[in-house]
Amino acid sequence: MSEDALIAEAIQARENAVATFSNFKVGSAISTPAGRIFRGCNVENSTLGLTVCAERVALLAALAAGERSFDRIAVITQSEQPSSPCGACRQLLWEFCDDIEVVIANLDGNVRRLRLAELLPEPFVFKAEEK
Ligand code: THU
Repeated sequence: MSEDALIAEAIQARENAVATFSNFKVGSAISTPAGRIFRGCNVENSTLGLTVCAERVALLAALAAGERSFDRIAVITQSEQPSSPCGACRQLLWEFCDDIEVVIANLDGNVRRLRLAELLPEPFVFKAEEK
């Protein structure tokens, strides 16, 4: 799965964003080593606090489908500069994707490539003891 193709998936995902309150639509797509793609968009609701980010929706869809290995995530916004994932998404991505490549882009074709370790240099790590 090429970077361009993953960005195209994220652009499609963004079309489904539920951004009733912020009007800020976000699309995301995460790829597995086998080339499967899972899409996510932000979903807002009247409580505001229960809003879920596009990145987490994409990751959780992939996890729910049984995937446990990931190689790249793309995030698309309408902002002038590409937006990077929020802190909560960074933590969750770290736990399930390690140092994944994070491609952030806007609708004007401005693209930046980052590693998650740059975005979350001191992650919280907790390993439950197996019994
Ligand atoms: N949002 C995301 O989807 N991903 C992020 O990493 C940060 C913010 C969404 C949440 C909310 O619906 C909108 O962007 C404005 O904060």
